[in-house]
Amino acid sequence: MEYKISASVMCSDLLNLEKDIQLLDKAGIEYLHWDIMDGNFVPNYSMNQDFMKAAREITDLKFDVHLMIERPGRYIDKFAKAGADLIVVHEESTRHLHRVIQQIKKYNLEAGVALNPATSIKNIEYIVDDLDLILIMTVNPGFAGQKLVPSTLKKIESAKKMVEDNKPEIDIQVDGNVSFSNLHKMHSRGANVFVAGSSSIFKKDLEILEGIKKMRDILG
Ligand code: DX5
Ligand code: ZN
Repeated sequence: MEYKISASVMCSDLLNLEKDIQLLDKAGIEYLHWDIMDGNFVPNYSMNQDFMKAAREITDLKFDVHLMIERPGRYIDKFAKAGADLIVVHEESTRHLHRVIQQIKKYNLEAGVALNPATSIKNIEYIVDDLDLILIMTVNPGFAGQKLVPSTLKKIESAKKMVEDNKPEIDIQVDGNVSFSNLHKMHSRGANVFVAGSSSIFKKDLEILEGIKKMRDILG
């Protein structure tokens, strides 16, 4: 199965971000993953659209924007204008998911929905045709360096089935503890977009390019 790698900017060497982005560019991965947190939807803060805009100046890598914020509809315009290519909002963060997805599409961007570990795939049954990507959170969002929630592996399988029955071209992304040892379990169940964070390519004592090579060797 074809796969894509999305590198988690939050986990990079932030004081040397330009250097890390150049390496990721060179490696030819598919996306940079931007974790945007508002200290409300999740108990943590991270980055914003100005940060993204600055990075947009130095790379043509696609921007995959993971919005962990309450009522994301208020900010779609800002992230679209800051250079997003794909915007992913949480099912749990808005009462008007269908409307927010249409807001993203108005900018001709790819649109995705993220599901926390406790959220059922059934909650997106009636909007699946409008989506380009489903993000299965494999940890509770908010922090890097957590352990996989095992039941989310089963959810990847359910998502894969739902996608095959409706719109097979939808990507299934996984985010959280996408480690070298979890990678195969996720891929074999149907995930094809992998968020590479502190569990893989941004590890102490491992070069980014080596980490990417290791991921590719496992994914085949
Ligand atoms: C979790 C974030 C992830 C995180 C993944 O809320 O969305 O993108 O950076 O990194 P690791 O590999 O540390 O789980
Ligand atoms: Zn993320």
